[in-house]
Amino acid sequence: MTEDNRIVAGDKQDDAETSVEQSLRPSSLSTYIGQTGLKRELSVYIRAAKKREEALDHVLLYGPPGLGKTTLAMIIASEMQVGIKTTSGPAIEKTGDLVALLNELQPGDVLFIDEIHRLPKVVEEMLYSAMEDFFIDIVVGQGPTAHPIHFPLPPFTLIGATTRAGLLSAPLRDRFGIVGHMAYYNTDELEQIVKRSAKILNSPIQEEGAHEIALRSRGTPRIANRLLKRIRDFAEVSEHHDSIDRSIVQQALKMLQVDDEGLDQTDIKLLKTMIKFYNGGPVGLNTLAANIGEETDTVAEMYEPFLLQKGFIKRTARGRMATSLAYEHLGISPDKK
Ligand code: ADE
Repeated sequence: MTEDNRIVAGDKQDDAETSVEQSLRPSSLSTYIGQTGLKRELSVYIRAAKKREEALDHVLLYGPPGLGKTTLAMIIASEMQVGIKTTSGPAIEKTGDLVALLNELQPGDVLFIDEIHRLPKVVEEMLYSAMEDFFIDIVVGQGPTAHPIHFPLPPFTLIGATTRAGLLSAPLRDRFGIVGHMAYYNTDELEQIVKRSAKILNSPIQEEGAHEIALRSRGTPRIANRLLKRIRDFAEVSEHHDSIDRSIVQQALKMLQVDDEGLDQTDIKLLKTMIKFYNGGPVGLNTLAANIGEETDTVAEMYEPFLLQKGFIKRTARGRMATSLAYEHLGISPDKK
C-alpha cells in the first residue's frame, strides 16, 4: 500500500477533510474522550483566563499523529469563545505569510500552527517577539532605505502542534506556557470513541465489535474511525450483518491486513527487516527506513513510537533493536533469525 491509501498510518491523508470526518470530531472538552489529565489541566487554565478576561497562554501539544491535537486546538478556541486561524509549519514559507496571519487576529484569538517543528527559521524568529510581547518588527524598503516598523499585535494564543517535540528549538519551546503531551489512548477510551462515531454514522455496532476495533487501532482515534468506516462498508455489503459484530470486524481486518495487535504490513516489514537483515539490530533509523522504502520521518513519527510502546522494539545508543516479543509475535525463533 502507498502512504496515501494505507489504512493504518496515523498521518492525515490530505488536507481536505471530509464532512464525515468533521462530524466525528468532538466539539467540547466534555465530549472529548481520553487525555484525561490534559483535559483537566486545560479546563482550569481556560476558566482562569476567561475569568481574568485575558488570552490563554500559548499551548504546545505534542505526540504521535492522529491523537487529536487539531481537535483539541479547535475545542480550546471554542471554549474560550474566540476565533481560530489554522495553518501549518510548511505552509508558512516567508515572514510575510506570518504577518498576514497575525494581522487578521482579533484580541484573544487562537493561531493554530500544525507541524510547528517545520517552520522556516526566519519565521520562527519572528514568532519570538510576537509570542512574548505581542509585537513584530517588519523591515520595509530595500538597501539603504530599509527600516524596521514596529507592529503591535493584539494579545493572542498560539497553539503549536508537533509530532517531534525534540526537533523544536529551545527558544521556541520555552515560549509556550502550557505544554501538553498527547498519549496513546487505552482500549476502553478507543471503544467509547468507536461507539460514539458509530452512532454519529448511524451504523449499529455491538459491544464486542467496538472492542475488537479498539484493540487494533494502535491507540489512535484517527485509525479507529478510519477502520470503523471501512468495516461499515464491509458489513453493509455482506449478508446476515445488520450490525457490526466481532466476526465482521475480524473478516474486514483480515482483508485490510491488520493483525491482532493492530500491526499493518509496514510494521511487519520493518520488524522482519530488523530480524532477517540485521540479526535483530541494532540498526539506525535511516538505514531501516531506506530498507523498507519509507521516509525516515514517517518511520520516526508513525511506526517507531507505536512499536516502542508495544515493546516490539527498543532504542539503544547504537540503534533500534527487535525485542523477544517481536520474534514471538512473528513466530520467528531468536536463534534461527
Ligand atoms: N473522535 C476522535 N477523537 C475523539 C475523542 N478524543 N473523543 C471523542 N471522539 C473522538
